Amino acid sequence: MESTYNNPKYIEIENLCVRYGGKHKKEVLKGLNLTVRKGQVYGFLGPNGAGKTTAIKTMVGLIPEYTGRVLILDRPPQDLSAKQKIGFMPEIANYYWYLTAREALHMYARIFGINKKQATAKTEELLDLVGLKDSANVLMKTFSKGMMQKLSFAQALINDPELLILDEPMGGLDPVSRIKMRDVIKRLHKEGKTIFFSSHELSEIEMICDEIAIIKDGALLKSGKLHELLSQKGESIALERYFLNIIGDKVK
Ligand SMILES: Nc1ncnc2c1ncn2[C@@H]1O[C@H](COP(=O)(O)OP(=O)(O)OP(=O)(O)O)[C@@H](O)[C@H]1O
Ligand SMILES: [Mg+2]
Repeated sequence: MESTYNNPKYIEIENLCVRYGGKHKKEVLKGLNLTVRKGQVYGFLGPNGAGKTTAIKTMVGLIPEYTGRVLILDRPPQDLSAKQKIGFMPEIANYYWYLTAREALHMYARIFGINKKQATAKTEELLDLVGLKDSANVLMKTFSKGMMQKLSFAQALINDPELLILDEPMGGLDPVSRIKMRDVIKRLHKEGKTIFFSSHELSEIEMICDEIAIIKDGALLKSGKLHELLSQKGESIALERYFLNIIGDKVK
């Protein structure tokens, strides 16, 4: 894999602190540091409640109150010019339930300023890519969790983003769909896109990421090249074992 070490920083987070519900409430992110460079496939790991979704929401401008430094494509998270180049897949999708998948994707394309003809072409391309062609005219309110995940992934790709930020993209996908999403992510990586995603699927992370960060209780525990982190004393250990060692949890 080509070195990305000297590439520009696409996500730059320094000493990020976030509290929910005002300054007297619990601090959820406690000085988080993170750097993601152009061209990386970056895995964001951590136990439930560690603060991954909070960090991701801050990156995409959904949590305006924070302290510390957050730059996405060299811009603050609220900056529209950066948002144009980002694709975001939320952990819990909240869409227009009374639209069909086809209508929703078309609408998102139009919101990004894509003309009608291209919006139609892009919609069809993405429905095909994520495997939703057969359900394209069904109302979203009848979609299963996995179908929503696919639509959400397609929505994140609508503007041909430079940087993809995905919050648990593989949750709820069946094995075949997961393999397909893995292949799409690999292909986007080959095309030079930068992909940052949170996941609990350690085997997926192992297969597609070149760099990872592990957080716990709102702070970074480890980050670095996956193969360097996993090679210890000349031996390569599995990510699952490494993860358990780092977060310090014992599993019987
Ligand atoms: N809207 C909110 N108001 C108050 N507390 C919140 C809110 N959202 C999250 N939290 C708290 O912030 C902490 C971090 O939550 P977050 O959703 O960022 O974790 P996560 O790492 O994404 O977890 P998971 O792996 O379960 O998705 C948790 O303690 C959670 O209870
Ligand atoms: Mg989360």
